[in-house]
Amino acid sequence: MASNPYLQHLEPGENGSSSNVNPYTGKQFSARYFKILETRKTLPVYERRDELVKMTEENKVVVLVGETGSGKTTQVPQFLVDAGYAKDGMMVACTQPRRVAAMSVAKRVAEEMDVVLGQQVGYTIRFEDKTSQSTMLKYCTDGMLLREAMHDPELLRYRCIVLDEAHERTLATDLLMGLLKGVITTRKSPINMVVMSATLDAEKFVKYFENAPLLQVPGRMFPVGIFYLPEPAKDYFEHAISTAVHIHQNEEPGDVLCFLTGEEEIEEGVRRVTEEMVGTEKTLGPLKVLPLYASLPPDRQQRVFDPAPSSDIPGVSGRKIIFSTNIAETSLTIDGVVYVIDSGFSKQKTYNPRVRSEALQVTPISRASAKQRTGRAGRTRPGKCFRLYTEKAFKNDLIETSFPEIQRSNICNLVLQMKTLGIENLVYFDFMDPPAPETMMRALEQLHYLGALSDEGELSDLGYKMAEFPLEPELSKMLISAPNFGCSNEAVSIAAMLSAAGNVFLRPSGRQEEADEAKAKFQHPDGDHGTLLNVYHSYKQHNEDQNWCFENYLNGRALRSADNVRSQLERIMVKLDLDLVSVDYSDPNHFHYIARTIVSGYFMQAAYADRAAYLTVKDNQLVQIHPSSVLMSKKPKCLIFNEFVLTSKNYVRTLTNVRVEWLLDIAPHYYNPADMPKDSKIQLELERLIRQRESRKRARE
Ligand code: CDP
Ligand code: MG
Repeated sequence: MASNPYLQHLEPGENGSSSNVNPYTGKQFSARYFKILETRKTLPVYERRDELVKMTEENKVVVLVGETGSGKTTQVPQFLVDAGYAKDGMMVACTQPRRVAAMSVAKRVAEEMDVVLGQQVGYTIRFEDKTSQSTMLKYCTDGMLLREAMHDPELLRYRCIVLDEAHERTLATDLLMGLLKGVITTRKSPINMVVMSATLDAEKFVKYFENAPLLQVPGRMFPVGIFYLPEPAKDYFEHAISTAVHIHQNEEPGDVLCFLTGEEEIEEGVRRVTEEMVGTEKTLGPLKVLPLYASLPPDRQQRVFDPAPSSDIPGVSGRKIIFSTNIAETSLTIDGVVYVIDSGFSKQKTYNPRVRSEALQVTPISRASAKQRTGRAGRTRPGKCFRLYTEKAFKNDLIETSFPEIQRSNICNLVLQMKTLGIENLVYFDFMDPPAPETMMRALEQLHYLGALSDEGELSDLGYKMAEFPLEPELSKMLISAPNFGCSNEAVSIAAMLSAAGNVFLRPSGRQEEADEAKAKFQHPDGDHGTLLNVYHSYKQHNEDQNWCFENYLNGRALRSADNVRSQLERIMVKLDLDLVSVDYSDPNHFHYIARTIVSGYFMQAAYADRAAYLTVKDNQLVQIHPSSVLMSKKPKCLIFNEFVLTSKNYVRTLTNVRVEWLLDIAPHYYNPADMPKDSKIQLELERLIRQRESRKRARE
């Protein structure tokens, strides 16, 4: 092998005999490598390779804009590796807002570079690290790179950082942009950045990075016919199903991509269309209906990239229909799509700082999203897009672009990370769009209540520890306090179950009753956290048997992921010197220790019974118990909730029954009756408790 193989690699097949050898592995290139290379060369980005490399040599930051599917994510990081940006143990990193994209793209790029995934090309996402000593190119979620920055603020392992999908404007990408903007001016060793975006709104990035040069890669878009509904849809899901069926029955060959909002809807869509098309293979051609969403296991995700089924009947051809979340909007490109069905909705985070409620909500998409979705139909030839809303709604009701995540999230974790990164002046941090002052205040207040910040706003020892966990601050706090309650093993199991990928309990349509009966067997009288713990313990007792999971309507994959998360959390506990201890199960009150541990993290998420419903403490929000909760019929006086669910009503989900005394004991600074809504039940109850304690104290004296 030559001493500096990198530059020689630029044109495989054109620079003599050594070009048949993969410079990164020293092995002969496989036949598949050359085959994929031919496809790669047809991507619009490929033609701009030299230009991009030159611009990167001459500028610290380059902004690259290109249509989705033009090859940005798969090609640009490779160009940089080939141009020598991953030498001497340094790496090229490429960030993705979505875990699915990071995994699937890394897999694809490993194939393109003819290396083993996890070796020269790898990925890291939360709770999964598939990289090694030899990794040169690493795809990772933006959140993971941010985590690395907490220990290595100048990101010294990276020679070049590609911030991909910048238009998504996730919390982590926004913070990374601000951080890296500083690092590129202060770091002594050279560092480069490429900021990539799919939308035309690149000027904003150019300006933010002090007039960084812009490389625009025009896409090759074919015209797409747009069809609207004449009247607003009563039920977009039903319309989506009938449109998919209609396309398969009446339209020319070509694959279908249908945008829905979440896992349940998507699985239901797959089931419905598959059922309705049973027996039509001979007349309409073979059909494959596939789901695509974030918590789908990687091998099932990968199936969307398989070509449509082939047909041996003359005159009919195979087709695939994919039901997807907005993952397929810009993060993943599926070749062969000619028809797009756009429900007009996606699940988005919303946050109301006044009542501190963050929830995932089905929300109308923006016009920019609608255009992106439409574009997915015109990549290979003219296509059609069926918008399941009216033209009037498109023009008048949809907003132009959605707000960046920083303006619609609880930024508690972001602020904790900023503090850990040593950013002192949060208010003047150079965000592309700063968070609302009220949101920032709320986050600081929340961290202070949790004990992560001192009265002076300095990060406390507890705060540093909290930041070590890749969890929301409340959950980290719960784990750190758990040894004090003698139940850290249980707390770690609960935290792992709460962080598992996908729903633990399965409730397939048509078999809900059986599923509910199965769930009842695990039911804990004090609530959902205890129920999750029971499930986890049973799962371990049954030796992680997937069949047992299936029989009990449990999601084996989610449990496997919980188990994996658990061992990682355990490792962090050990690293932080936190004792791993278990409660004494012979103590009839053993669950009280666990419940109090939950309170120590989630005391700000409590609700108190008030007439037929519940009121959240302090914020006084009217909420109901979510029907999925095991406390649905028990209706305790006071409960802790993990999650807010906003649908037609406000629901709270994943609950544990607690006593008001515990709230007062564990978080007296928060449960000052004077801070509670005047004459509310919780205020009266707290006052009563305090009076009772005082008179007892006097009696003892
Ligand atoms: O990032 P951008 O949207 O510009 O394009 P890309 O994701 O790099 O996709 C370039 C090509 O690679 C497309 O034709 C994809 O279908 C293909 N690809 C693939 O075959 N398998 C993947 N896992 C990812 C991309
Ligand atoms: Mg991309």
